[in-house]
Amino acid sequence: MLDLLGNVLDREPETQGIKYAGAKTKLIGAIIDIVSSVKPKRVFDGFAGTTRVSQALAQTGYQVIANDKAIWSKTFAECYLNAKRDLDHYKRIIDYLNLVTPEHGWFSEHYGGEVGEGGASRGLDGLKKPFQMHNANKLDAIRSEIDRLGLEDDEKNVALTSLIMGLERVDSTLGHYVSYLNEWSPRSYKLLRLEVPRIIQSEQTHEVHNADTVELTGSIDADLAYFDPPYGSNNEKMPPSRVRYESYYHIWKSVILNDRPPLFGAARRREDSSDSVGGSEFEEFRKGSSGRFIVVEAIERLIQNTKAPYIVLSYSSGGRATAEELTDILAANGDVIDLMKISHKKNVMAHMKWTNDWLRDAETDHLEYLFLLRKG
Ligand SMILES: C[S@@+](CC[C@H](N)C(=O)[O-])C[C@H]1O[C@@H](n2cnc3c(N)ncnc32)[C@H](O)[C@@H]1O
Repeated sequence: MLDLLGNVLDREPETQGIKYAGAKTKLIGAIIDIVSSVKPKRVFDGFAGTTRVSQALAQTGYQVIANDKAIWSKTFAECYLNAKRDLDHYKRIIDYLNLVTPEHGWFSEHYGGEVGEGGASRGLDGLKKPFQMHNANKLDAIRSEIDRLGLEDDEKNVALTSLIMGLERVDSTLGHYVSYLNEWSPRSYKLLRLEVPRIIQSEQTHEVHNADTVELTGSIDADLAYFDPPYGSNNEKMPPSRVRYESYYHIWKSVILNDRPPLFGAARRREDSSDSVGGSEFEEFRKGSSGRFIVVEAIERLIQNTKAPYIVLSYSSGGRATAEELTDILAANGDVIDLMKISHKKNVMAHMKWTNDWLRDAETDHLEYLFLLRKG
């Protein structure tokens, strides 16, 4: 793996992040390799999610422009990429927050539960919950204190990231918040404890946005754009709500905004995370009025709108945007100058020739691809 100056890196940059559907934790080495091959200076991470890719790029020496439609991604990016003060400064805030006295509030009411018979998860409303009451009470107290302290933006981003990472370590879920476990997970019995996040203190200032990438990409001045959109679901029977980031992680939005929104359903989701409001066209599995898949049209507009001369596109073979349709879009918009295929199962990472050969295994196996496109 090479860095910005062409030096060989002996190991992958370390990153930190929440459990997240589609996070590219295992692909970081491959992404850095393919990005480095065109020697960019400014790299746009258009679907930053956990910001793990942005964190790796920043550590490799690139100036990063991170964007995601989800508010939690902005908080993470500002924390990991742009928190510039001494780490001891942030540690004092985190140490203080760990000492606040637990209290019962909005989060406890909706997301806290007691241990019922046989370890069952039960809230006061009889529903399953993601956090045990002692931790939900702590969440209430810490979240109120973060607002009461009147922190500066960087301090608040660090405190909120630390709170979310801490909550994840004691949750009772399968990694998303659309349903909770019947019986409390072993980790939910632990005490919520905040730690200072793994902040990357690079000399550069990175840019962070919270917008729709299709709209934003035309105004981003970058040498390369890395795109990792959601790609919808391949399963016709799966309701769209099951694959939507806004619904999977609704609780992080509430922790960040502390806005006590109206909720619905057994998982007490925010109303604005419902299918009719919170979706993205990249998460659509339906066809539009033109007869083409909505997600395919979105990818096409994304690539056409992008100003950066190089695009690295992540694609996983289970996605709705079929390999064939993707091939057509890429071919119409420039030259694919590299194609990497990654199989986690077989632990294989290989460069492939840009021929239609890739189409054969893309339809069948669960593989990850990285396309490097030079825009035409
Ligand atoms: C596959 S995940 C990205 C994962 C990320 N690369 C990582 O390693 O954590 C897709 C992301 O796209 C975001 N997203 C969906 N539609 C979007 C849009 N139109 N503009 C910007 N972000 C969008 C979602 O919020 C989600 O975080």
